[in-house]
Amino acid sequence: MAAAPSMTGRTANMMIVALLFGLLIHRASQSAVAEGSGSSCNIHAATWPGPPPFRECRLQYYVQVFVGNPSLNQNLLPPLNESFSGSFGHGELFAFNATEGPEQTSSRVGSVRGFTIDSAYKASDIIDLIEVELISYDDGNYKGTIQIQGEIRAISPNEVAIVGGTGSFRGARGFGLIERVLLDGPYRRFHHDLHFIY
Ligand SMILES: *[C@@H]1O[C@H](CO)[C@@H](O)[C@H](O)[C@H]1NC(C)=O
Ligand SMILES: *[C@@H]1O[C@H](CO)[C@@H](O)[C@H](O)[C@H]1NC(C)=O
Repeated sequence: MAAAPSMTGRTANMMIVALLFGLLIHRASQSAVAEGSGSSCNIHAATWPGPPPFRECRLQYYVQVFVGNPSLNQNLLPPLNESFSGSFGHGELFAFNATEGPEQTSSRVGSVRGFTIDSAYKASDIIDLIEVELISYDDGNYKGTIQIQGEIRAISPNEVAIVGGTGSFRGARGFGLIERVLLDGPYRRFHHDLHFIY
């Protein structure tokens, strides 16, 4: 049992070393977190070259849609099995103009491109699309892209998530409300009301 005290001593030493090492790692990770978080990074991002950063809370525009126009491809993907699961799997691809005001003749502020996939499995009459959308925005001052993802259902407004951006919208986060405000034959008009959370 003579070895027992020295073993204990060595174990204790090792424990102290491990504790100190753990503390060092803990402190290092704390300072790493401090450097990598907080609003200071947003300010840093804003100093990168490029268009002025968009720092307003809200951005609104209108999307002009013409069904039958090549800018809307409704046959990107066929439904997987129409008789069994309705339009599940059906995909559409689109590239629309975004305007500042509701009228088609209102000044163009960019394009809205993306796709939808029907994800309403076995629901014959429910529209439930997954939408992935890229807004290329340029109003002469702010310029960049805003990435949007969300669920589109028949009942509007639909709420989507702003998941990122580039240019004036670097690091964009928030949500958007998409509402159809006009349905006139093949012509549809949508209002996009984006809210940014920094
Ligand atoms: C569609 O689904 C039904 C039911 O499972 C099946 O009997 C049929 O073969 C499927 N059709 C195709 C084209 O896969
Ligand atoms: C978008 O607007 C331009 C003119 O500003 C026009 O030439 C183009 O056809 C429009 N695109 C769509 C998809 O309506």
